[in-house]
Amino acid sequence: MYQKHPGAYMADWSDASGHRHRKQFSTAKAAREHEHRETALTHALRASRELKLAGDGDASKRKMVTESATIASTDPAQGKLGVMIPGMGAVATTFVAGVEAIRKGLAKPIGSLTQMGTVRLGKRTDGRSPKIKEFVPLAGLNDLVFTGWDIFEDNMYEAASNAGVLDQRTLDQLKPFLSKITPRPAVFDHNYVKKIDGPNVKKGRTKMDLADQLRDDIRQFKKSSGASRLITMWCGSTESYIEPTEAHQSVKTFEKALRENDEMIAPSMIYAYASLKEGVPFANGAPNLTVDIPAMLELSRENDAPICGKDFKTGQTLMKTVLAPAFKARLLGLNGWYSTNILGNRDGEVLDDPGSFKTKEESKLGVLEHILQPSLYPDLYGKMFHKVRINYYPPRGDNKEGWDNIDIFGWLGYPMQIKVDFLCRDSILAAPIVLDLVLLMDLAHRCSELKGIGIQEWLSFYFKSPMTAPGLYPEHDLFIQLMKLKNTLRHLRGEELITHLGLEYYD
Ligand SMILES: NC(=O)c1ccc[n+]([C@@H]2O[C@H](COP(=O)([O-])OP(=O)(O)OC[C@H]3O[C@@H](n4cnc5c(N)ncnc54)[C@H](O)[C@@H]3O)[C@@H](O)[C@H]2O)c1
Repeated sequence: MYQKHPGAYMADWSDASGHRHRKQFSTAKAAREHEHRETALTHALRASRELKLAGDGDASKRKMVTESATIASTDPAQGKLGVMIPGMGAVATTFVAGVEAIRKGLAKPIGSLTQMGTVRLGKRTDGRSPKIKEFVPLAGLNDLVFTGWDIFEDNMYEAASNAGVLDQRTLDQLKPFLSKITPRPAVFDHNYVKKIDGPNVKKGRTKMDLADQLRDDIRQFKKSSGASRLITMWCGSTESYIEPTEAHQSVKTFEKALRENDEMIAPSMIYAYASLKEGVPFANGAPNLTVDIPAMLELSRENDAPICGKDFKTGQTLMKTVLAPAFKARLLGLNGWYSTNILGNRDGEVLDDPGSFKTKEESKLGVLEHILQPSLYPDLYGKMFHKVRINYYPPRGDNKEGWDNIDIFGWLGYPMQIKVDFLCRDSILAAPIVLDLVLLMDLAHRCSELKGIGIQEWLSFYFKSPMTAPGLYPEHDLFIQLMKLKNTLRHLRGEELITHLGLEYYD
């Protein structure tokens, strides 16, 4: 759904044969509902076609639906993997410094599914649970090389010291490595991030010129680092809230808008465009629209460059997507959920601006609605009140405190309360997510079955506001997301998917 002009909202969907349709409505709600209905119909039609094929006698057609028994072809992870990061702030420096500390044997990759996680294969009695990094061909940590862009000129050692996440003793041990990573001049627009400004910014006549400069940076880094593959990971500040417009609807309209300096093209979109044009996957760690527009989906599919986002799922939302599924599983009702945060890092300062906060708020608010499905359970969730606040409070730095007050009700409507006080460390929670996304997006890029599909929904596990095929509602439940991710890995390696049915143990 997108706004064509004030008062004209376009529903936009594909039918079961892949044909694109658009219809105009006078309200966003009506357009969104129409799009959801049509998309649900498309998915139902496709599913029934596949079932019919499965029932047909024709073995070649049947293969289409039993494909999970074959191994998807995946190129080996040979050579270096270049990680390019727009936004060399707290999250980016904690990630890069962490990778180097792990490589030097100074620390362990706590929190990383790709490094510490296992995947069960076959029956519970088979005793097969390899490490994920041994089950699928991932790049090794020693093969990662880094670059980035930022509006400030600090190198990674200075930026990490300013961010104050890791202790200075650890950073000093990594100084020779970190101080060599200096930021390239950024593509920046103060209108999109009002609370900060810096000197290290590219100049160009049009936004297309800026995209071309980024494409040069990408090619130059590939050459100078000797990387055989690249990935872009947005760790830049949260940009002001915008809704998709006509400029975002196709590669053609997007390129026209770049040439015409359309104000609806945000800097993060210019990085994404440059990356996808160079065939480089793009992951979005912030809640900005960025790659969540039809133009980027089109470009991603055209150039076999996977995309995913949005907004790392780290502290409060991680807890929300664990607790809310438990309430729904036990049919406990919810009257209200009040979430507030205090944090004092630069991210907190940026989010103090109403435009950037609105982007984050939208990302955080969607979660409960999708998990609890009030339209299916009106007695339990029809009247829930959900509020999210973020307060900039400098003394806390990166050590955010997230409070939740949850008003639930049980048998015969009797009320109860739950209080959660998560004294977390924002970037410590985000860094392993960045590592996993880098390695899994690179895997997707090397995999015949995944590289051309565009959105990598199987990576929803890492995001507050997961991107999905147009019109499909996102899965927010952390454990559904984990199952989806692991089943995707099993599928890629031709292993049986795990359904947890388990009747075979009782034959
Ligand atoms: N737990 C977490 O830390 C967490 C969770 C979810 C999302 N995020 C998001 O990740 C992003 C990074 O968080 P952070 O704590 O590292 O913030 P940060 O403020 O420390 O770092 C962001 C960096 O991006 C730079 N920047 C801004 N616009 C840029 C542009 N156009 N090009 C290049 N650089 C640009 C800023 O100068 C800054 O150095 C934020 O958008 C944040 O909302 C963080």
